[in-house]
Amino acid sequence: MALCRGLSLLAIHIALLASLCSAADLFVYFDFEVSYITASPLGVPQQVIAINGKFPGPTINVTTNNNVVVNVRNKLDESLLIHWSGIQQRRSSWQDGLLGTNCPIPPKWNWTYQFQVKDQVGSFFYFPSLHFQRASGGFGGFIINNRAIIPIPFDTPDGDITILIGDWYTRNHTALRKTLDAGKGLGMPDGVLINGKGPYQYNTTLVPDGIDYETIEVHPGKTYRIRVHNVGISTSLNFRIQNHNLLLAETEGSYTVQQNYTSLDIHVGQSYSFLVTMDQNASTDYYIVASARFVNESQWKRVTGVAILHYTNSKGKARGPLPEGPNDEFDKTFSMNQARSIRWNVSASGARPNPQGSFRYGSINVTEVYVLRNKPPEMIDGKRRATLKQ
Ligand SMILES: *[C@@H]1O[C@H](CO)[C@@H](O)[C@H](O)[C@H]1NC(C)=O
Ligand SMILES: *[C@@H]1O[C@H](CO)[C@@H](O)[C@H](O)[C@H]1NC(C)=O
Ligand SMILES: *[C@@H]1O[C@H](CO)[C@@H](O)[C@H](O)[C@H]1NC(C)=O
Ligand SMILES: *[C@@H]1O[C@H](CO)[C@@H](O)[C@H](O)[C@H]1NC(C)=O
Ligand SMILES: *[C@@H]1O[C@H](CO)[C@@H](O)[C@H](O)[C@H]1NC(C)=O
Ligand SMILES: *[C@@H]1O[C@H](CO)[C@@H](O)[C@H](O)[C@H]1NC(C)=O
Ligand SMILES: *[C@@H]1O[C@H](CO)[C@@H](O)[C@H](O)[C@H]1NC(C)=O
Ligand SMILES: *[C@@H]1O[C@H](CO)[C@@H](O)[C@H](O)[C@H]1NC(C)=O
Ligand SMILES: *[C@@H]1O[C@H](CO)[C@@H](O)[C@H](O)[C@H]1NC(C)=O
Repeated sequence: MALCRGLSLLAIHIALLASLCSAADLFVYFDFEVSYITASPLGVPQQVIAINGKFPGPTINVTTNNNVVVNVRNKLDESLLIHWSGIQQRRSSWQDGLLGTNCPIPPKWNWTYQFQVKDQVGSFFYFPSLHFQRASGGFGGFIINNRAIIPIPFDTPDGDITILIGDWYTRNHTALRKTLDAGKGLGMPDGVLINGKGPYQYNTTLVPDGIDYETIEVHPGKTYRIRVHNVGISTSLNFRIQNHNLLLAETEGSYTVQQNYTSLDIHVGQSYSFLVTMDQNASTDYYIVASARFVNESQWKRVTGVAILHYTNSKGKARGPLPEGPNDEFDKTFSMNQARSIRWNVSASGARPNPQGSFRYGSINVTEVYVLRNKPPEMIDGKRRATLKQ
């Protein structure tokens, strides 16, 4: 606790210093009231974590060099930290909302994060980092726009759409946490949510009646920047839009060499921007699909997220089977090759490594190499835990 107090004093001190240093850069303020609300994304009422009464939380939309100030009010029954994933908080890593650098915000308390999104652009998301709370929500998109004088490597899109995909359980995070702490696995998720909503009823056997699904409305002929984030717990998802190419343009703050994909594997925690042109004839609506990867798909059929892409001139509902994803159940090479096909466009504008830090890594002589391997879960003190091995 003494350490916590010391750190927070230091944080206030440095935050003051940082604000003096960047007085010319705009401050943008947000209030986040984090509380439980009841929602039934898969048809079963459950407590989910909402921000300002919304599940998922609002998208934070700021510009390079803005000073972001978020007053987080904890109305949950347990402590809370919000992690701003992928945002490099230069001069203020104690604002990153992770245990060890931040003291948890106790229930009924509030705490104000302040950090500058210095020299950054791109698509990120935030989520609660403690107690497995992310399994109950509390997440949202985080956009950093370029400053007006910095060009982007594509025409300004006609719209900007955030899509959060992720596996989902009808049990809440406390129940899931208890299961893990009892040394048991979580089993197959109950579904995949798209923007906090369950699947469109594309098949009456697999999807029950009365599920509220996400609809994305678009205008024919326009090109949208669609930012897709996998905010789930453990399931890799294949993302695709029926009949539409996904032109990959950016991932987590780096512009990529632009390439078309008919579908892309998006692993937990990853964020991608696609430019999608509405070039179809709108004879029907189109399916937006996020389906589980590296599992037996015939057993996991109901663990599929389905939303609707609706042209304003659409002539009818989406129908028929979903567009097929990669058919390689137990072969990971497709996915690995796909990941390797993504290249950084080094001639495009964008965030560059920070002169005080990573940009000198190339001149450091390597004396030891550690290879960290992701291992299957292990039992530690009777609890089920993820492990890395050297
Ligand atoms: C979570 O679910 C358990 C039942 O499994 C219930 O006792 C508990 O109240 C729920 N917690 C919240 C915050 O809804
Ligand atoms: C808590 O919220 C109040 C009212 O908005 C604000 O004045 C105060 O600075 C906040 N406290 C912290 C520690 O962020
Ligand atoms: C990379 O970005 C530059 C600058 O915008 C652009 O001219 C070029 O076409 C891009 N290259 C690729 C391969 O996407
Ligand atoms: C974000 O804010 C900018 C103005 O700063 C606006 O042009 C843009 O449409 C906004 N994006 C979203 C997704 O709201
Ligand atoms: C719905 O899904 C079930 C189970 O996978 C399948 O047997 C059935 O053919 C599907 N129905 C339609 C209309 O596609
Ligand atoms: C991507 O696909 C679109 C059609 O949807 C096409 O117009 C465009 O030229 C393709 N771009 C690349 C880089 O292949
Ligand atoms: C619209 O496109 C679909 C498939 O791309 C095609 O089967 C259909 O005939 C087209 N309809 C019209 C009215 O052009
Ligand atoms: C996948 O699951 C189905 C249904 O349970 C089963 O028949 C099939 O053998 C499984 N496939 C593999 C490759 O394990
Ligand atoms: C790396 O090693 C080279 C050759 O041994 C030496 O000249 C250089 O100073 C070293 N660089 C650093 C940063 O230690």
